[in-house]
Amino acid sequence: MTIGVPREVHPGERRVAATPDSVKELLKLGYQVVVETGAGLEASFSDDDYRAAGAAIVDAASLWASVDVVVKVRPPQVHPGLGVEEAALLKKHATLIGFVWPAQQMPMLERLAQRGATVLAMDCVPRISRAQKLDALSSMANMAGYRAVIEAAHAFGRPFAGQITAAGKIPPARVLVIGAGVAGLAAIGAARSLGAVVRAFDTRPVVRQQIESLGAEFLTVEIEEDGSGSGGYAREMSPAFIEAEMRLFAEQAREVDIIITTALIPGKPAPRLLEAGTIGLMRAGSVVVDLAAEQGGNCVLTVPGESVRRDGVTIIGYTDLPSRMAAQASQLYATNIRHLLSELTPGKDGQLVVNMDDEMIRGATVLHQGAVTWPPPPLTVAVPQQQAPAEVPAPAEAAPARRRTGTTLMALVLAAAALLGLGAVAPPAFMAHFTVFVLAIFVGYQVVWNVTAALHTPLMSVTNAISGIIVVGALVQLGKPSLLTAVIAGCAVLVATINIAGGFLVTQRMLKMFQRD
Ligand code: NAI
Repeated sequence: MTIGVPREVHPGERRVAATPDSVKELLKLGYQVVVETGAGLEASFSDDDYRAAGAAIVDAASLWASVDVVVKVRPPQVHPGLGVEEAALLKKHATLIGFVWPAQQMPMLERLAQRGATVLAMDCVPRISRAQKLDALSSMANMAGYRAVIEAAHAFGRPFAGQITAAGKIPPARVLVIGAGVAGLAAIGAARSLGAVVRAFDTRPVVRQQIESLGAEFLTVEIEEDGSGSGGYAREMSPAFIEAEMRLFAEQAREVDIIITTALIPGKPAPRLLEAGTIGLMRAGSVVVDLAAEQGGNCVLTVPGESVRRDGVTIIGYTDLPSRMAAQASQLYATNIRHLLSELTPGKDGQLVVNMDDEMIRGATVLHQGAVTWPPPPLTVAVPQQQAPAEVPAPAEAAPARRRTGTTLMALVLAAAALLGLGAVAPPAFMAHFTVFVLAIFVGYQVVWNVTAALHTPLMSVTNAISGIIVVGALVQLGKPSLLTAVIAGCAVLVATINIAGGFLVTQRMLKMFQRD
């Protein structure tokens, strides 16, 4: 099959869905890749770079007419050069991958359905651990959060870091970040690294630790209400809570120089949190960056896509923040797309397989062979980041729990009786080893079973130590004359060594994620 990478036609869009590096990976999956001429120019990738990576360069009309899979950034729209909607240019029964926003793009999806198309939306990839490498929403939000700080620094008339100079003292900039999701946390990190004093607020108390670990202060309101919704996202708050947080922001507005606001609730317009009166309390020269501008904005004065000045305060409502760092944003997005295509190509043979039984693929597929498949059924796997408030168990549920305890007790009594019975007949040397063996199984089970998925990597260090002991024990046994003992010991050495080497490799990979170059 052939994958096509068209040039984005949305005004001001500089990103591209594949980079020369990702093209090389797509070729390894068995696909041919064609790139529209000039597709990567705005992101600093020339046609020659793509050619060198192994792609063919073609014009827009022949790309859309020939390829089986189109990878894009923005949803299809009218092509200004060809005068036709991109959806109408897609080959019949072809596949389209990109940001789609199905809730807002249903008419376009229906037109694609008539062409028998399959559409995978990067914005619908479920937020489960397995899908993190395809999570384009997070990679773009990360860029947007960072860029928001850079835009604020550009508009702000002072350095972020405090200084004492011969000519006078410069106080550090004070930054308030509202909403500490992916974009908010990136903004906190960037503002802190520039030297600002940062405070942050979120409706999900679970982010407190993340905010504090970045060196920012976590603000609270007097009302206790947990905003954690499903899938790691926030839920709508009660009017009383919104009022309380707006009071907090009005107080903060008198003190801070910059407000970066990122508060969003999936499928809902952005909550209005900053009134004109609040902006009026800010000092002249202050800056507000509203990352929720595209969803209506958290600030009532935001003009989406523009930077405006009200009462001496600059309010930035740009909706293309990731695109303003096109090279890096394209690199991350292209990697997300490449990982999705890798999942869709199990045979690495250039043949796309949309497996609707795979929860991750099912979630992303909004149109399958001409049938609308959005919204997907609810996920059955747990989302690790989601921390639902603890619920008091209903009395009716207490009975099965008691039954489970009874069964465990019975199993323990039976195991103890079996051990005693065995002790009566077996030789003492065997019993000593057997008791250690049973205890090892019990402790190992308790250690592994009760650890949450998020901690499996650190757990590997523990299992590495255990595997080390197994290798030593098995090596001692290898010299024994019995063939059976030697074979079992040989297997133990092999399996434990694989475990140790694999453990080190995975741990090394995880550590690399946290290393600064
Ligand atoms: P988002 O862009 O939908 O929301 C941004 C932030 O606004 C959220 O932190 C939300 O709590 C906050 N917010 C909403 N209403 C607010 C209000 N009235 N006042 C103040 N703050 C408000 O969320 P985003 O950044 O896309 O992801 C949110 C969370 O999802 C992450 O922090 C993470 O825990 C989880 N996640 C999980 C992933 C996974 O693979 N399991 C991947 C990415 C995110």
